[in-house]
Amino acid sequence: MSRVLRLGVNIDHVATIRNARGGDHPDPLRAAKIAAAAGADGITAHLREDRRHIGDRDIARLRDEIDLPLNLEMAATAEMLAIALRHRPHAACIVPEKREERTTEGGLDVVGGAAHLAPIITALGEAGVRVSLFIEPDPRQLDAARALGAPVVELHTGAYCDAAAGPAREAQFLRIAEAARHAQSLGLECHAGHGLTYDTVEPVAALPAIAELNIGHFLIGEAIFVGLDQAIARMRAHMDAALRGGVAA
Ligand code: PXP
Repeated sequence: MSRVLRLGVNIDHVATIRNARGGDHPDPLRAAKIAAAAGADGITAHLREDRRHIGDRDIARLRDEIDLPLNLEMAATAEMLAIALRHRPHAACIVPEKREERTTEGGLDVVGGAAHLAPIITALGEAGVRVSLFIEPDPRQLDAARALGAPVVELHTGAYCDAAAGPAREAQFLRIAEAARHAQSLGLECHAGHGLTYDTVEPVAALPAIAELNIGHFLIGEAIFVGLDQAIARMRAHMDAALRGGVAA
């Protein structure tokens, strides 16, 4: 098992539950500490424009009090750029954002948005923040990411995870596999995430070009039943089984 495959745990939905009552509980920072102890390689948090889950104070606390690399998911706006430059997380994943969507429903249009994205990618890179672009598994988007000098792409696995098991999901998986190979050939580090579960993670984890998976909603949901540490340990076991070429129980 020589390939390294990192697991970034997205703690947004701990904040979703906290915000439902407006108090301090449950605390995303506590979740991040549990994730770190359970073997997460990084913490991912999305500061949305409407602050529906993670808030500004959460980002400051995660940055100050967690030793793991912080991956800040952010829209390509002046406000978010200023926040990222203030906190200088290890990484910033630029995502498309629409207020009315329930989650990040599709990838970034790097082809159409190149002129807008270029200065943001440059500013983050100059500040030492590792930039990734959250894109559909589409070769044109990968080529555009490469042209803009982003070092990392994250492939949106939502269509794959949402597809019915069988030929529809297989077709979506092939798009991811091809895009991961293409990313590697362009010299881009390739991550993947969105909607991944115990049932869908292994084929993606087995792709040699994938270096990191970012997983949130399913883990936080499972944590209700088995605890966050157990949910992460089981996800990690599925990832490790994929690295070994086996299947986790
Ligand atoms: N990666 C990115 C860029 C995301 O926007 C999200 C959702 O915030 C995830 C990964 C995690 O997706 P999920 O919560 O469905 O596991």
